[in-house]
Amino acid sequence: MQGIFYGIGVGPGDPELLTVKAINAIKNSDIIIAPKTEKNSESLALSIAKPYLRADVQIVYQTFLMVKNFEDSPKIFEDNVAEILAYLRDGKNVGFLTLGDPLFFSTYIYIFKLLKNSGVQIETVAGVPAFLAIAAKIGYPPAYGNDILSIIPATADKEKISAALKNSDAAVLMKVYKNFGEIAEMLDAENLLSNAALVSRCGLKDEKIIADINSHKNEKINYLSTILTRRD
Ligand SMILES: C[S@@+](CC[C@H](N)C(=O)[O-])C[C@H]1O[C@@H](n2cnc3c(N)ncnc32)[C@H](O)[C@@H]1O
Repeated sequence: MQGIFYGIGVGPGDPELLTVKAINAIKNSDIIIAPKTEKNSESLALSIAKPYLRADVQIVYQTFLMVKNFEDSPKIFEDNVAEILAYLRDGKNVGFLTLGDPLFFSTYIYIFKLLKNSGVQIETVAGVPAFLAIAAKIGYPPAYGNDILSIIPATADKEKISAALKNSDAAVLMKVYKNFGEIAEMLDAENLLSNAALVSRCGLKDEKIIADINSHKNEKINYLSTILTRRD
C-alpha cells in the first residue's frame, strides 16, 4: 500500500509551538524530508522538530532554491517530488517539514501542487505562522475591529507595496532583509513607521526585537525578519 504524505507546519522556531497534530504526523512518518537552501548546511525546520523525531526515522535532506517563480526552475522541485513519490510507492509515510504554516509563503506549496494530481494521499498539517507567533510574543494585535490588514512580501514590486500600505489600517511585512532601509522609508512615508516593530528569528536562541526601526534602518538584518505595523 502507498504511504501517506504529510506537509507539516513546525511553526517559526519555538518547538513548543508545534500542534499535537504536527507531532502525531511526525511520529507517524517513516521518512522526514528536511528542506534546506543551497547556502545552509542545516535545516532549521528539522532542528525545530528534533524533540519529536522517532528514534528509527530516516532523515532525507532536500535542497531547494529560493525562487520567485516556480516556473523559472521547476527541475529541482520535480526531482525532489520524484524522490518523495518513490518513498511513498515503497509504502513509507513521508513527512515534509515546513517553517511556520505549510500553505503560507512556503516551498511546500510547489511540492503540494506537483503531488496533488498524482493520486497520493496528502495531509497538510497547519502550523503557527511567524507573524502570529511574533504578535503573541510582543503583545501586538495585527488586526482588530474593522481593520484592513495587508500581508506584504518586501520582495514584491515597489508600486504594489506602496499601494497596499496606502489602503491598509495595518500591515505585516515579510521577507524584510535585502531592502530593509527602503521598506523603513516607505513605512515612514505612509505614517506607518512610529508604530512598527520588527522581530528577527522569533522563538530561536538569537531572537531580536527592534521597537525603534528608525534608528536601526541602516543595519543588516536576518532573512527571518518580519515587521508588524498599524496606523495610529
Ligand atoms: C518563506 S517565508 C515562510 C513563512 C512561513 N511559512 C510562515 O508561515 O510564517 C519566510 C519569511 O517568514 C518570516 N519568518 C519565518 N520565520 C520567522 C521567524 N522565526 N521570525 C521572524 N520572521 C520569520 C520572515 O518574514 C521570512 O522572511
